[in-house]
Amino acid sequence: MKGLTELLACIQEISGGNYSNDIMSLTSGDYDPFVREVAESVGLMMVRIEAREFALEQAHDGLKRSAFETVASTARALSLRDSYTKGHGDRVGCYGARLARRSGFDEDSVNHVRIAGVLHDMGKIGFSDTVFSNEDTRPSEEMLVEIRKHPQWGYEMLKGLSFLGPALDYIHCHHERLDGTGYPRGLSGEQIPPGARIVSIADVFDAITTDRNYQKARTLHEAFTILRKLAGPSLDPDLVELFIIEIEENGMESCRTQK
Ligand SMILES: [Fe+2]
Repeated sequence: MKGLTELLACIQEISGGNYSNDIMSLTSGDYDPFVREVAESVGLMMVRIEAREFALEQAHDGLKRSAFETVASTARALSLRDSYTKGHGDRVGCYGARLARRSGFDEDSVNHVRIAGVLHDMGKIGFSDTVFSNEDTRPSEEMLVEIRKHPQWGYEMLKGLSFLGPALDYIHCHHERLDGTGYPRGLSGEQIPPGARIVSIADVFDAITTDRNYQKARTLHEAFTILRKLAGPSLDPDLVELFIIEIEENGMESCRTQK
């Protein structure tokens, strides 16, 4: 029967998830009527399955987006208690994504860094009124103990959200330092995931280039000097240099206009 072998090969390909259009070539008049009829039916079935898979993917992406937006809105609610944090998470997400892209992360991984940047300080929701209302540049030892808990609190709050993937770890590690003197776990060097090292740089950069109660925003030149000083003991030196190049070439504006 002309075309039967090709028909079988096409059906096997399709059943393996490879939706090739080769099946449609078997519907021409050159082939046995039985082969044409089966090819037409399988072709139609393939198109329907493809359409359903596409719709499912869209729905899944939509769900992931709304879950992220819900959590991000809660994180932004922090600005009601602490005006400095207004826009901070979004800017950190934006700078972090730019640095991740420049360091060669694929788009999925860039997105994880962006998400971690937006949510990195989520755990601050657990701060007491004393910490939120403190305007002293040197918090007490007791306050420091509380402040240092926020990456762990953020991790605990968000750990059930599977869509965060590695972003959860970046949130947990955004105050770790390369020399091991950071918190909450005192990780060092390679133990700190690259995505977290990126979020740390974006976090420090936004903190020093934004007006705060006790400190005017630093100039770009001053900010680069501070970043370079922190490179080594605290921040990843290679990533700091890449970040400086990124900002020199593309500026801050695209991130400053974040919501
Ligand atoms: Fe933080």
